[in-house]
Amino acid sequence: MSQPAQTQFRHTPVLVSEVCELLVNDLSGIYVDGTFGLGGHTKALSALLNVDATLIGIDQDQTALAQFPPSLVQQSLHLVCTNFENLNQVLNDLNINKVHGILLDLGLNSFSLDDPERGFAFSLPGPLDMRFDRSNELTAEIVVNTYSQEQLANIIYRYGEERNSRRIARRIVEMRTSKKLTRSDELKQAVMKSVDPRFRNKSLARVFQAFRIEVNREMDVLAQVLDAATDVLVPGGRLAVISYHSLEDRMVKMHFRELSRDVPRQPGMVDTEVKIPFLKRITGKPVVAQPSEASQNPRARSAKLRVAERTTHATQ
Ligand SMILES: C[S@@+](CC[C@H](N)C(=O)[O-])C[C@H]1O[C@@H](n2cnc3c(N)ncnc32)[C@H](O)[C@@H]1O
Repeated sequence: MSQPAQTQFRHTPVLVSEVCELLVNDLSGIYVDGTFGLGGHTKALSALLNVDATLIGIDQDQTALAQFPPSLVQQSLHLVCTNFENLNQVLNDLNINKVHGILLDLGLNSFSLDDPERGFAFSLPGPLDMRFDRSNELTAEIVVNTYSQEQLANIIYRYGEERNSRRIARRIVEMRTSKKLTRSDELKQAVMKSVDPRFRNKSLARVFQAFRIEVNREMDVLAQVLDAATDVLVPGGRLAVISYHSLEDRMVKMHFRELSRDVPRQPGMVDTEVKIPFLKRITGKPVVAQPSEASQNPRARSAKLRVAERTTHATQ
């Protein structure tokens, strides 16, 4: 018997048992892993599901998808390399109308973060790239060198929640007037020279996060996929989202809160004003990693899992 291909990269999936327990409600259903990565969550779901279930894995990183030996799952598995904002298109192409569960485990896989050529980590000098999908045109280099000082400050403040945003933006603009910034270590220098040494690491993490979010339009695509995912769930189907920073978690929380609100009938209301909620929140507070998992996997420490279920009789 042939051995499955050796996985070249590693990524330890987070909150695996919690995802399996909270996402699956039909053992023969159709499940979408919208952030397939190295397939850690899909593999765990596969072990739980009946063989007649269907699995769909989406990732915009072809390098990740190519690592997965399909023989690791018993069910029918469709792997699609695209942005999860194209969820509807993916399902249309597969002639699938509704699904029973969708998982989004947001952010980066560990091997991309650890690859200096991708430019994501301030600790690893590399090109200022930061694209999840390397066929996209916009890179961190373009953002850093062509956006106005005000645009840079706004991005750093909005997506990094960094209060030294104006000073850092000014420094970037000063540096780029003498020479274009092309390396992640140059961006690191701009931050280091602008903030109190005591807070450097936090500021660096925030600034790198901010540029990554801008380059990959992360907040826009998240908003789009939350709407699309809610629409394609069967009644009783579930959406599970793991986020790693407060901006994402806030967006998921607000989406679940907004769509789980009802507008009860009041005297004098017409039928169209009465709203039955689209979603029921399964998690009140977000689920976080147990101390044992957090101690073994640093990524798990910031992970927050929220799950909601599509209701049976929703109205717009
Ligand atoms: C945290 S990793 C997922 C790891 C995966 N759960 C596992 O067990 O291996 C996130 C993955 O989502 C992908 N990703 C992030 N944003 C995406 C998007 N908008 N569309 C498609 N894939 C995306 C990344 O390329 C990365 O592989």
